[in-house]
Amino acid sequence: MTAQRQTKSDPGTIDSMTFRNACGAFATGVTVITTRMDDHDHGMTANAFMSISLDPPLIAVSIAKTARILPLMQAAQRFAVSVLAAGHEDLAMHFAGRPRDDIGDPLRDLDGLPVVRTASAVFAANVDQTVDAGDHVIIVGRVSALETDPDRRPLTFHKGCFGRLNEETPPMLEPGWLLEGNHW
Ligand SMILES: Cc1cc2nc3c(=O)[nH]c(=O)nc-3n(C[C@H](O)[C@H](O)[C@H](O)COP(=O)(O)O)c2cc1C
Repeated sequence: MTAQRQTKSDPGTIDSMTFRNACGAFATGVTVITTRMDDHDHGMTANAFMSISLDPPLIAVSIAKTARILPLMQAAQRFAVSVLAAGHEDLAMHFAGRPRDDIGDPLRDLDGLPVVRTASAVFAANVDQTVDAGDHVIIVGRVSALETDPDRRPLTFHKGCFGRLNEETPPMLEPGWLLEGNHW
């Protein structure tokens, strides 16, 4: 790919596609954000997920203002995040506006919220803060419950493509490092 450069300081001059391509260089995992309103479950695929704070346990997601899940999350004041695993490409597309009839019943309950059954980690959260951010809204949630499945490998997203990790370096830190007040 040809290198792309945008160096103008006026943010209005940054071309959206160039900006999007640059952000796509940051490899992420893939999640499904879910919520429940009036017994109706709704989910949306998102890679804009991050862990925010250990104490208290906070997570954040960034949701497009046009996304159907946003008013549901704001009304419910609760949401869940399911971290997708390798092999979940179909699920990721199902919850990204390409619904599939053969997807079955991919959701189960965690603390009164729907989560993906076969996810590698699931978090249930109560909305703690909502931040207006351009064409998105950042929602910070305080985690009320979580479960992990350590045997699952991650689904990745990089430059618009799903992928898998094929190589991991050995742990660089001894387990006690985290407990000594070093955050991540
Ligand atoms: C890999 C991937 C990551 C995505 N990440 C986000 C995200 O972080 N935030 C967001 O608002 N939409 C994200 N989307 C787009 C939504 O999943 C998509 O627009 C969805 O159709 C919106 O739901 P709705 O059609 O019910 O409104 C992502 C899509 C994919 C495939």
